[in-house]
Amino acid sequence: MIEVCQFGSEKAKKYSLVNEAGMQVALTNFGARIVEVLVPVEDNGALRNLTMAALSDEEYLAKDTYPGATIVPVAGRISGAQAKIKGRLYSFTENEPGRTLHGGVNTANEQYWEAEVDEEANSVCFTIELRDGFNGFPGNVHVKARYRLTEDNVLEVSYTAQSDKDTIFNPTNHVYFNLTGDVNQDIAEHYVRIAAQTYAPLGESNLPLGRLEPVEGTPFDFRTGGTFAQGFGLEHPQNQLVKGYDHPWVLDQVAEPVEIVSPDQKIRLTVETNQPAVVIYTYNFPSENMAAFHGAFSLECQGLPDACNQEGFGSILLEKDQLFEHQTRYGFKWQ
Ligand code: GAL
Repeated sequence: MIEVCQFGSEKAKKYSLVNEAGMQVALTNFGARIVEVLVPVEDNGALRNLTMAALSDEEYLAKDTYPGATIVPVAGRISGAQAKIKGRLYSFTENEPGRTLHGGVNTANEQYWEAEVDEEANSVCFTIELRDGFNGFPGNVHVKARYRLTEDNVLEVSYTAQSDKDTIFNPTNHVYFNLTGDVNQDIAEHYVRIAAQTYAPLGESNLPLGRLEPVEGTPFDFRTGGTFAQGFGLEHPQNQLVKGYDHPWVLDQVAEPVEIVSPDQKIRLTVETNQPAVVIYTYNFPSENMAAFHGAFSLECQGLPDACNQEGFGSILLEKDQLFEHQTRYGFKWQ
């Protein structure tokens, strides 16, 4: 049974998915968002919440509307707040000086999406229509964000989209985790493995410089496992720049390219995605105290940020009437 209840204002609903193993996932139509991921891991059978979450739409609005939300049409920063799409230059709303972050202002992460519950599939599908020209992005884009909780403890996130004009599209989910269950605890001692040979160094204003560099010999090398602490010492200029990690890694085409284990080793999170990159942000600029400094990390699977302006960063072009498909699976194991 998918339970539905109020989540703050009248328009906001919370959907709770449960499976046989007792894992629970809470979602809301406000921003087509993951609110909580709960696993029955404590000795007394209690649930541990692995995400950074708020209690209502109002609380997200007052504090930070990114956590857990669906970010569309284009995740990350767009340099110059503009891009050429099939030879034509488009300007987007600047919500940082000279840049567009996470699709601009009043974006879908602050809107109430239509929701459809599918009991049999243990899933909820949220839909929204992005209007042609909104924040400068061309095309009426019909977007679906579907979340499913499987019996093998996978939270599956699927995005599909179709536009009536050529446009750019690079969505992500902005969920933050802290596998200790406490976002006031430093994430430094989480074990991290990322199957990636290269990452994208950043320049001013957290924008990718436009080149990929080998992780070899840097704190960005998690190929054989490490901890976030290896970058939190801030020995490397790239970690100094952002006070931790806020970087894209280009993922190897392997099964489970990302794996994170809680410091008490009770919880193992793995990520599978059809997207080329993961952006990991280690909550270096806490806004409104939703978590401590370095109290959470995001795992944003997507195409490389600013791909629309950087040669060699892949294409995020979505052609008129083409079907866009993204799938990311967060798998959980506990003991
Ligand atoms: C991340 C981004 C960070 C920060 C955060 C939102 O995706 O890389 O720099 O803007 O979103 O608070």
